[in-house]
Amino acid sequence: MELAKYSLKEVARHNGADGEAIWIVVHDMVYDVTSYMDKHPGGRELIEEYAGQDATRGFTEVGHSSDANRTLKSFLVGELVEEDKMSNRKKKDVNFVNVKATGDRRRFLSVLCFKCVS
Ligand code: HEM
Repeated sequence: MELAKYSLKEVARHNGADGEAIWIVVHDMVYDVTSYMDKHPGGRELIEEYAGQDATRGFTEVGHSSDANRTLKSFLVGELVEEDKMSNRKKKDVNFVNVKATGDRRRFLSVLCFKCVS
């Protein structure tokens, strides 16, 4: 069966507000962890912080056990659309800070600080 595809925007709607479901993204996969919130050994607040967002960093940095990884897999509901996957987002970010041409840089700075170009 094909996995459902979701954009980060759609994931963001599932942030637990007004009793909504809580979705998180880990390694481009989308998980509905609503029913797990109160069972989380680290407390529900830690997951709440990432509700509706990409939780890859939070989830991997604490070094969850393979058990935790298995539990996570059981909540899979879909995957991110191609353009919102981590590797494609990174490319966009690099382009944003890598403003090489002087003209572009001045324009870039002027957005940050009007004094820099006045
Ligand atoms: C989203 C961000 C998350 C963060 C920042 C986070 C953080 C943590 C932390 C700090 C602990 C250690 C708690 C302690 O020892 O007192 C922990 C334990 C645990 N977490 Fe999470 N967690 C997250 C999401 C999840 C999710 C989505 C699952 C599974 C669906 C999960 C499953 C577990 C399990 C099973 C443990 C027990 C230790 C282990 O087996 O690794 N966590 N978590």
